[in-house]
Amino acid sequence: MIEVKNLGKNFKKKIAVDDVSMYLDEGESVGLLGPNGAGKSTTISMISTLLPPTKGTVKYNGKNVLKEPEELRPILGVVPQEIALYEELSAYENMSFFGKVYGISGKKLEDKIQETLDLVGLKERQKDAVETYSGGMKRRINIAVALMHDPEILIMDEPTVGIDPQSRNYILEMVRKLNRERGLTVLYTSHYMEEVEKLCDRVYIMDHGQIIASGTKEELKSILSNEETIQIQVEETKSEFRDLLSSQEGVNQVLEDEAGYNLIVSKGEQLLGEIFDHAKQANIKIIGIHVKTPTLEDVFLHLTGRKLRD
Ligand SMILES: Nc1ncnc2c1ncn2[C@@H]1O[C@H](COP(=O)(O)OP(=O)(O)OP(=O)(O)O)[C@@H](O)[C@H]1O
Ligand SMILES: [Mg+2]
Repeated sequence: MIEVKNLGKNFKKKIAVDDVSMYLDEGESVGLLGPNGAGKSTTISMISTLLPPTKGTVKYNGKNVLKEPEELRPILGVVPQEIALYEELSAYENMSFFGKVYGISGKKLEDKIQETLDLVGLKERQKDAVETYSGGMKRRINIAVALMHDPEILIMDEPTVGIDPQSRNYILEMVRKLNRERGLTVLYTSHYMEEVEKLCDRVYIMDHGQIIASGTKEELKSILSNEETIQIQVEETKSEFRDLLSSQEGVNQVLEDEAGYNLIVSKGEQLLGEIFDHAKQANIKIIGIHVKTPTLEDVFLHLTGRKLRD
């Protein structure tokens, strides 16, 4: 449906997107995952024809959308990272405005507004000004306006950043329904691994303007099929303990966070004894320890040596 080849964008000397190739098939739910500054928003702005690329092509059903944007635009809904609503207007008025921009009017417009408000769960609050909404409600209306023209493809740029868990779950569930029940093709941008794991059939992992891995969740996790992660919770972290862990045979990577350490180790390594010995030597108190099967977060860590949310 959409095919992106060797897409790149420079802002003066800054390379925001270096080389991105990806595709979207009809009905798929695809994740674009990457840390802050990876180039996600720049990539989707180019796919949405809002930003001209420095190099590369975007094709929709074989046609170059950079030359013929009018083919793609009407069937595309874009939910921007920044909330783009008229704050002093109500949800109803915002939706009516954006619906009219897309040429919908009369009863069709009214029906579409009510149907979409129902979908985002804000029917009761539709007459209130957007400025009185919570962050999560604004996000939901931001999505609603992108759905007013019944797009076939929905591109969402980090739609759940900075909102409460309840709104977040609501949005995730909604996107899943749109994809599974209505057959909407979804490109979902996020730096939350769990969201992409829940929602998406296929994932692209992006870092420093490039796609560094892609595939189904299973394919990506199989990168780590020979490794597993050991989580160690400690009372307080200590560089001596970290150094001991790093030099331990069988430990491929050590990552530190507030709770303690994550070790990526070769599968089947029996390291628990050694870990406790090192803890004793460094005078560290271990509160909890467990071995877990790899997540996409671990895949990212493995590929880049960094955590996604650094
Ligand atoms: N208009 C611009 N002018 C100059 N540099 C830009 C511009 N837009 C983006 N960049 C730079 O390009 C890089 C990629 O930015 P982009 O917004 O695409 O990343 P992102 O993956 O969406 O990050 P985030 O998760 O923070 O939204 C960043 O280093 C950013 O500073
Ligand atoms: Mg962004």
